[in-house]
Amino acid sequence: MIHRVYRYTVVEFESLTSTQDMAKNIRRVDTVIVAKEQKNGRGRHGRTWESPYGGLWFTVILNNTCVLMTLAAGVAVVKALERMGVRAGIKWPNDIIYGGKKLGGIIAESSGGLVYLGIGINLNNEIPDGLRDIAVSIKDENIEPGELLAHILNELDSLLTNCPNTKIKILKQWKKYQVVLGRNVCIGDNELICGVARDIDTDGALIVKVEGGDLKKFYAGDVHIIQMVD
Ligand code: BTN
Repeated sequence: MIHRVYRYTVVEFESLTSTQDMAKNIRRVDTVIVAKEQKNGRGRHGRTWESPYGGLWFTVILNNTCVLMTLAAGVAVVKALERMGVRAGIKWPNDIIYGGKKLGGIIAESSGGLVYLGIGINLNNEIPDGLRDIAVSIKDENIEPGELLAHILNELDSLLTNCPNTKIKILKQWKKYQVVLGRNVCIGDNELICGVARDIDTDGALIVKVEGGDLKKFYAGDVHIIQMVD
């Protein structure tokens, strides 16, 4: 099914390998590819993203070059969820957290001058065995996926249109919803570096006071929250 949501053309599929792949075939700016299930959903760092039937899995094709795009996307998702009565948080850079577990994730892939912004939210879908300790799905039949998508697109536009002028707004909103600053964290993929997450830089980097005292900036990686600092 194809329909309009604000300035976007939304194309819905029952099942795809990945909305990212379909979007890269279509390559049409301001188009949103949605699938009710993905057979081969992709996460960050080359990981698999489990996308069973029912969740909200979509890719927005943009020609926007905002450096804070993925942070803005995290803000757009939590603000949209808030409008639907769900209070979620953001773990740097853009994991959507609910009740301490991962509710959603965001990936941005660039190719041919376009950005493919992929967003996955566990909404009324089953969480596969083996992921239940770390992932969560919102169980609320009153949350209509199309309505949540429309809110996300609306929030995304208000943050990304006229970027970089919206940078301050993005950072301010991100700080309002984040769940990492002031906490003991370990960050990295292979080698973990631990310290206290102090702040976010204007370029979106996470500033960590590492054990030993230095301030270190991180541009990518998974954050593991260890405990609150009093
Ligand atoms: C992450 O690792 O946290 C990012 C997950 C991104 C998943 C979404 S679901 C829609 C889009 N299609 C994909 O294959 N991945 C993204």
